Amino acid sequence: MIEAIKKRRSIRSYQNKPVEPEKINELLQAAMLAPSAMNLMPWHFTVVTNREKLTQIPTYHPYTNMMKTAPCAIIVSGDRAITKKDAFIYCDCSAAIMNILLSAVDLDLGTCWCAIAPDESRMSAFRSAFDLPEAWLPVAVVAVGYAAEQKGMKDTFKPERITYCE
Ligand SMILES: Cc1cc2nc3c(=O)[nH]c(=O)nc-3n(C[C@H](O)[C@H](O)[C@H](O)COP(=O)(O)O)c2cc1C
Repeated sequence: MIEAIKKRRSIRSYQNKPVEPEKINELLQAAMLAPSAMNLMPWHFTVVTNREKLTQIPTYHPYTNMMKTAPCAIIVSGDRAITKKDAFIYCDCSAAIMNILLSAVDLDLGTCWCAIAPDESRMSAFRSAFDLPEAWLPVAVVAVGYAAEQKGMKDTFKPERITYCE
């Protein structure tokens, strides 16, 4: 199994240390290599490093306290003008997000995936805070940074959730 899959955990406390632009670029390269429905690649990535904007996020999204210490966040949105069905936007953006999370492990970075959609009030709060076009569906905001907490690997394998059809 790919080592990063085993090691990845949600990190909710970060060191006061910026993420190198080269590393952010590598995360975005990985994101845009993800598969997408009809290969339409509807995603857009808003990279936030503005301290004040990051710290404000938990005031309009209750489950994002880690943004108070995260030095970077990536908002992953899908453009409804490119991909008409929201279900595909969710799938495409999620595949891109997963590439970010796994690539981050290889770069010694921690991450935390925080959903924005489908909560309409959170979607509109992010649209207005970051000037996102109305046509974009903001799927998630991903905290990125050097971890200030250590989390171990876990065993989540459940054989009873598998059915074989031979
Ligand atoms: C769609 C989705 C939405 C999530 N939203 C949040 C969130 O808003 N805030 C948060 O702290 N974690 C969020 N998480 C992270 C989960 O809580 C986390 O993945 C889960 O508890 C398992 O822990 P692990 O990532 O360390 O394996 C989200 C994860 C997913 C996949």
